[in-house]
Amino acid sequence: MSVLVTGGAGYIGSHMVLRLLDAGERVVVVDNLVTGFDWAVDSRARLVTGDVGDMGLVGPLLREEEVSAILHFAGSVVVPESVADPLKYYRNNTANTRNLIEAAVEAGVGRFIFSSTAAVYGGAGMDPVFEDAELDPEAPYGRSKWMSEMMLADVGVAHGLRYGILRYFNVAGADPEGRAGQSTPRATHLIKIACQTALGLRPRMEVFGTDYPTPDGTAVRDYIHVTDLIEAHALMLDHLGAGGASDTLNCGYGRGYSVREVIETVREVSGVEFETVESPRRPGDPPSLVAGADRVRERLGWRPAHESLGEIVTTALAWEKHLMTRNDPPPIA
Ligand code: UFG
Repeated sequence: MSVLVTGGAGYIGSHMVLRLLDAGERVVVVDNLVTGFDWAVDSRARLVTGDVGDMGLVGPLLREEEVSAILHFAGSVVVPESVADPLKYYRNNTANTRNLIEAAVEAGVGRFIFSSTAAVYGGAGMDPVFEDAELDPEAPYGRSKWMSEMMLADVGVAHGLRYGILRYFNVAGADPEGRAGQSTPRATHLIKIACQTALGLRPRMEVFGTDYPTPDGTAVRDYIHVTDLIEAHALMLDHLGAGGASDTLNCGYGRGYSVREVIETVREVSGVEFETVESPRRPGDPPSLVAGADRVRERLGWRPAHESLGEIVTTALAWEKHLMTRNDPPPIA
C-alpha cells in the first residue's frame, strides 16, 4: 500500500512527503515540475513527472502502487493570475481535480485529502471566519477550489469516497530541520519577500495598503507554520483511515498579524533594519482574514507546535539563506 502526494515537489507537498516517509509510509509523488523541483522530493519517495489530470498516467499508477490514500496539493495558487487567466485555474485546479477524483473512484482509493483555501470565503465576511460561513470567493482561484470541494461532496455521496477538505489560511515558514521550504521563484508572499529583503536580495519592500480598517492600517492575516499544517493532514489521514467521517476544516491559528507586525518580526529575527515603502492596496486583498480555528482542534485533536510568528520567520529566513547557497532556483527570478 502507498500514499499518493500530488504536487509533492512543491512547497507544502514536499513537507508532506517528508512527514509520511518519516512515519514509514510508502510514498509516490505526481508532479509536472512546472513550479516544483525534482530536488525537493526526498529520494525515498518515487517521483512520477506528469499531470494529475492525465488519467492514462494516474489510473494505472494508482493500481500499480496500490494507493490507499491521495493527498492532492497540485494546483495553481496565484490569485491575481487567476483573474488574468481564469481558464488556467479551471484546468489546473478544477478539471484536473475532477479527473483525479474519477481515477481515485475507479481504482477504489478510499481516502482523499484536498488542499483548499481561505480564498473560498471571499473578503467581506465575518472575522474570524468559520467553516459554515457563506462562501463567496472574490477571484477565479477561490472558485476553482470551491468547485473541487463541491465535486468531492457529490462523489462522497455517490461513491462513498471519504475526503478531508482543508482550507488553508496563510501558510508560511519551513521545515525546522531545514530539509524543505518555499522555493518558488517570483514569490509574492509577504514573509518570503520580507526575508529576501532582510538578506539583501531586494533593496526594499512594499507595504501594500496602509488605510485598511485594522489597528495599524495594514492588512491582517492568520499565518500558519507549514509543519503544523502538515500535521493536520496527517491527523486527517488517520481519522479517515480509522473510519472517520468526511470533513471540511479551516487550517489557521485563529489569530492575526498585520503586515507591519510581520515586517517588525522579520527585522527582529534577522537583525536587519531593511527599508519599506508604503504603496497602494493590492487589488483584491481583503483587510483581514483570520480562521475560526476550533473545529480542526475538536475533530482531529490538532495541537499546533510552531505557533509563534518568531519561529515561522526564523525557519523561513533559514530556508532563504539555504536557497542562496544552492542558487537553484535563482533567489529572485
Ligand atoms: N504584502 C505586502 N507586501 C508584499 C507582499 C504582501 O504588503 O511584498 C501584503 C499583501 O498585500 C497582503 C498580505 O501582505 O495584505 C499577505 O499577502 P500574501 O501575498 O502573503 O498572502 P495573501 O493573503 O494575499 O494570499 C495567501 C495565498 C493565497 C491564498 C490566501 C488565502 O497566497 O494563495 O493566502 O488566505 F488564497
